[in-house]
Amino acid sequence: MAFNIIVGRNEEDKKKFGEKGTILLGRAYVKMGQTTSLSNYVYMDVIKAHVVFVVGKRGSGKSYTASVIAEGILDLPEEVSKNLAVIMLDTMGVFWTMKYPNEKDADLLEEWNLKPKGLEKIKVFTPFGKFEDAKSKGIPTDYPFSIKASELTGEDWRLAFELGASDSVTILIEKVLGDFAEQKREEYTLDHMIQAFEKEESFPTDVRNEAINKMRAAKRWGLFSDEGTKIDVLIKGGTVSILDMSAYATSEGGWGVKALVVGLICKKVFIERMISRQLEEVEAIKVGYSYFKLEEEIESKEKKPLVWFFVDEAHELLPSEGKTAATDALVTILREGRQPGISLLLITQQPGKVHSDVLTQSDIVIGHRLTAKRDIDALNAMMQSYLGDTLTGYLNTLPAEPGAAILLDDNSERLFPLRTRPKFSWHGGEAPTAIKYKRSANLGI
Ligand SMILES: Nc1ncnc2c1ncn2[C@@H]1O[C@H](COP(=O)(O)OP(=O)(O)O)[C@@H](O)[C@H]1O
Ligand SMILES: [Mg+2]
Repeated sequence: MAFNIIVGRNEEDKKKFGEKGTILLGRAYVKMGQTTSLSNYVYMDVIKAHVVFVVGKRGSGKSYTASVIAEGILDLPEEVSKNLAVIMLDTMGVFWTMKYPNEKDADLLEEWNLKPKGLEKIKVFTPFGKFEDAKSKGIPTDYPFSIKASELTGEDWRLAFELGASDSVTILIEKVLGDFAEQKREEYTLDHMIQAFEKEESFPTDVRNEAINKMRAAKRWGLFSDEGTKIDVLIKGGTVSILDMSAYATSEGGWGVKALVVGLICKKVFIERMISRQLEEVEAIKVGYSYFKLEEEIESKEKKPLVWFFVDEAHELLPSEGKTAATDALVTILREGRQPGISLLLITQQPGKVHSDVLTQSDIVIGHRLTAKRDIDALNAMMQSYLGDTLTGYLNTLPAEPGAAILLDDNSERLFPLRTRPKFSWHGGEAPTAIKYKRSANLGI
């Protein structure tokens, strides 16, 4: 019988944990003469912090792979899954379908001895101004989501509006926020900012008007409220929180808004986890345990789950050139997320256009089919550090079936082809017409 492969785990941890805290990712391909078939099962560690990079051209299986991982985390035994929280930024509105069973792939699932099932612990959050609209379109959203205007720095506003650093509007915003800080005014709304702009008479009227108009546009994002969603609400152990950002898919400046949300959430998650990590360490010194090992011994109320943050279209939010409102926060997590226990799963169809830190910090790469030279070159550059080979050859030998990919694991310095397992839950990444039809026919919504 073929042995199981575990990726994302070093030898020491394999001895310590065995297969505990791993999820089934797929099966490796083996080639015998002319035929290629599925062989060893491939499991992936999810209880340590990782940077997973999922790449491939459109329709190659990237979102599907990401959902396989999210599903796997939810499907772990409760004692493990309760220590893990997943936040998925759903830019296209494709992940919420995980609430429903994957009847469409029932035959394929059976080949893998798996059954279609919808997942209960999927919570969908929609910006509060878009909440009712999303509901009326049949999106099974659970909670409205909002942020406070006073949580944003001048730089956040500048990047969200895609303004230059020396733009007059940028300078006006900085001036007003600087005054608020001096007055120790910590809570303020968009209207307070608009009022302050009106009073800044040393700035030309057209600059003030432009700043006011930008704030009015920000109101229409339906994102800001006086309360703001607490980060604890999004980080729930054993739960996948999906942030439905599909309302901004087509709107102008949509990426600015999405980057802003990602940046703010990442910042908050980082701070939360840093605090939690310090408390865990104090406990650890007391009882000498490792995080998952002696779970029973520490029932600390302060303990927060480790976080997996999934981001699709990573080249838009963390581009190789230029900066977005998400850049700094994502780079911080890429470089320093391991210690506080934050994992990132970044998806892109254009690895050649993503920030170079993604290429250097990823420890697990799942490469579906790619054709553009620039993108293949970017991946080749990642591989050459330990394999004297290029990716092109491997990509060419992949069987032409959905879910086929090359997996690179930096932890075990291995590379092999695999097919990701079929999903239990409904996949939403199809052509829109197919979803519409299936939605009404099968999902009862
Ligand atoms: N492991 C898999 N098993 C079966 N079908 C898959 C698998 N991976 C992908 N697919 C199919 O391929 C389609 C496209 O995948 P998707 O992840 O949505 O593409 P993209 O790379 O654009 O995100 C899916 O709708 C699904 O039908
Ligand atoms: Mg996709």
